[in-house]
Amino acid sequence: MGLSREERPGLGALFGDMSESCARLDAPTYALLADHVREQVDRPGPLAELLRPYAQAPVADMVPLRFLGSIHRLVLERRAPELAVYFASVGGTPPASPQAQQQCLAAFDAVVAERADEIADGLTWFPQTNEVGRTEGLVAVLRRVSAAFGLPVRLHEIGTSAGLSLRADALAVDGVVPDTRPEWGELPPIVERVGVDVAPVDITTTEGRLHLTSFIWPDHVHRFERLRGAFEVAARVPADVLRADAVEHVRGLRLEQGSALVLWHSAMWMYLTAEQRSEISALCARLGAEATVEAPFIHVALEPVDVSERHVFRLQVTTWPSLPGTDIPAGVEMLWGTSPPSGTPVDWSVPCAGAITHDTDGRLLVVRRGQEPAKGTWSIPGGRVEPGESFAQAASREMQEETGLIGEVVGFAGVVERAAPDGSTYVIADYLLRADGSPVAADDADEARWVTRSELMSLSTSPGLVEALAQWGALPR
Ligand SMILES: C[S@@+](CC[C@H](N)C(=O)[O-])C[C@H]1O[C@@H](n2cnc3c(N)ncnc32)[C@H](O)[C@@H]1O
Repeated sequence: MGLSREERPGLGALFGDMSESCARLDAPTYALLADHVREQVDRPGPLAELLRPYAQAPVADMVPLRFLGSIHRLVLERRAPELAVYFASVGGTPPASPQAQQQCLAAFDAVVAERADEIADGLTWFPQTNEVGRTEGLVAVLRRVSAAFGLPVRLHEIGTSAGLSLRADALAVDGVVPDTRPEWGELPPIVERVGVDVAPVDITTTEGRLHLTSFIWPDHVHRFERLRGAFEVAARVPADVLRADAVEHVRGLRLEQGSALVLWHSAMWMYLTAEQRSEISALCARLGAEATVEAPFIHVALEPVDVSERHVFRLQVTTWPSLPGTDIPAGVEMLWGTSPPSGTPVDWSVPCAGAITHDTDGRLLVVRRGQEPAKGTWSIPGGRVEPGESFAQAASREMQEETGLIGEVVGFAGVVERAAPDGSTYVIADYLLRADGSPVAADDADEARWVTRSELMSLSTSPGLVEALAQWGALPR
């Protein structure tokens, strides 16, 4: 369980938490150093002295990252050679043996003592990163959007940092980030690339590049390589990076005929207040209300959902109007995948559909599942969306396969997510259908029947089914 952003748990807890995160995310050198700071921070000495002004800092101030980042910067600038031999970011070897770890910590303590003034300076800078791997999901979304609407894209980003993600297409073509869904269609021409940030980083300067690089954990060599690759791409592909507030920028967005407006953001939502978030959401809905197939609006976000799940980022996509070929209504947010904080690899969701079918008496069609997940429980007919099918078509087909009945889709109910046995996520769009007749179980179902509300309540149903039906006003009579 992580700490919330407003908490002020003390420096020992903050560095302890960072050490755990680093250990979990394959950064052993930083895990070692953060744990060492945790131990030392309450003992008299240069380290405690340096950090004293931050004793009551909230989690949101990211003191551990600032502190280690300022030391990493000294390493990158070749001003801490005794420590550099352990930092993979400059070709060093992470200390594995207890002896190497002792030597690394001794070198670290020496740098802290000798360079206290520079580190104190570094502590005042707010961490800034631009995680290029996060565009893997965006690239795939751009392919789908382009194939579906057949329009060039105007790409806008809030919280853009250095604006590297605005070059998503070129990053994929150059192999800087994996291009995992080429089968989804051609990359669109991107006719406008605009990013805003309250503290944009200028990567045309050494200072800007160093600033971004220093906040990458030194063990994560792949992240350095991606960042370097992105610097090269950015030098070739221009983008407008402006100093502005996210809300202000979204307020000024307008649709244009003949292009799709894609609003993208990653790892920035947590910096907004509740008011700013709801204003952006309302502005998106307003733009969406004006969108058409000739001027669609697509909101793409890659954000950690809450603090307890901060190592899982969700790639969520909302389109206005409905993305052609899907039958997902406009404005419905869909989880397309999840990723680690670095954005790659994306674990793509499995699109599924369910059929909430009522007969003329208002009874509900249910099947007993013959397959996992939830084998043996009663549920509505449903299953995976096949290539080339819309979600609504999949719902009808699944119902026919599992019960022999042919139904008519009369509406959309909603979306639920369920854990798939392989660790990915089933994203299930449920549709309302009408049908009559006697069901005959087949395929994934080993029994099928019509039930009244009281009959449904007496069955062992799949987790969350009754709650979802109740929420959508779709319980049987
Ligand atoms: C963790 S960084 C993520 C940068 C980039 N989106 C990425 O994923 O690599 C968050 C960025 O959001 C910016 N930011 C925070 N609040 C903002 C706001 N109200 N308007 C614009 N940018 C904001 C910060 O300055 C920072 O550059």
